Amino acid sequence: MKRVAVFASGRGSNFEQLCLAQKNKKISAEIALLIASNSDIGAIDIAKSFAIPFRVFKSSDYDSLDEYRSQLLTCLKDNKIDFIALAGWLKLIHSSIVNAYKNRIINIHPALLPFFGGKGMYGAHVHQAVWESGMLVSGATVHIVDAEYDRGMIIRQQSVQLDFEDTPVSIARKVLQIEHKIYPEALQLLVEGKLNFQRRKGK
Ligand code: GRF
Repeated sequence: MKRVAVFASGRGSNFEQLCLAQKNKKISAEIALLIASNSDIGAIDIAKSFAIPFRVFKSSDYDSLDEYRSQLLTCLKDNKIDFIALAGWLKLIHSSIVNAYKNRIINIHPALLPFFGGKGMYGAHVHQAVWESGMLVSGATVHIVDAEYDRGMIIRQQSVQLDFEDTPVSIARKVLQIEHKIYPEALQLLVEGKLNFQRRKGK
């Protein structure tokens, strides 16, 4: 069975959904490892509750960024990781990992890319920007990770209707429900090898 590492920096609700999907046999791969960016994040409690091994990787624990990146890659190789799912991971994934896992890393973004994405567009900032735009639709996007923030090929996307009464907080709540639905679906598409990487924008 293919092995998936999930990278998380926060509460880990998407990570939890991936674990549940595996438990319910909706994903034909093993969630084999959590990479956590800090030792005090909620995702670690979730890993423990599903008995999933975890490792904490903090760049400040290493002498240099190169050392941090190479140890992280070594950890993925040692754990025989085939795919990576970013679930609220805040750092840009370095090209050494993107290249080693080309077309095998996915991310979930809480808006309809290519809008409301890019550097600085994470968490509450995204929902605030959607709210300020006045748009009455938002949604979630799963995309392949390349060396730029939020720019890789879109592999799954679903919208949600917004109302005049919505606030950034209620938008976040609506979008999170969509995230929890489409992230396991997208991971299954990836691990089944059903994605057509020849598809180009505009085609
Ligand atoms: C989600 O909104 C996800 O789209 C974004 O970061 C958030 C992580 O939430 N990339 P959680 O830790 O999965 O609950």
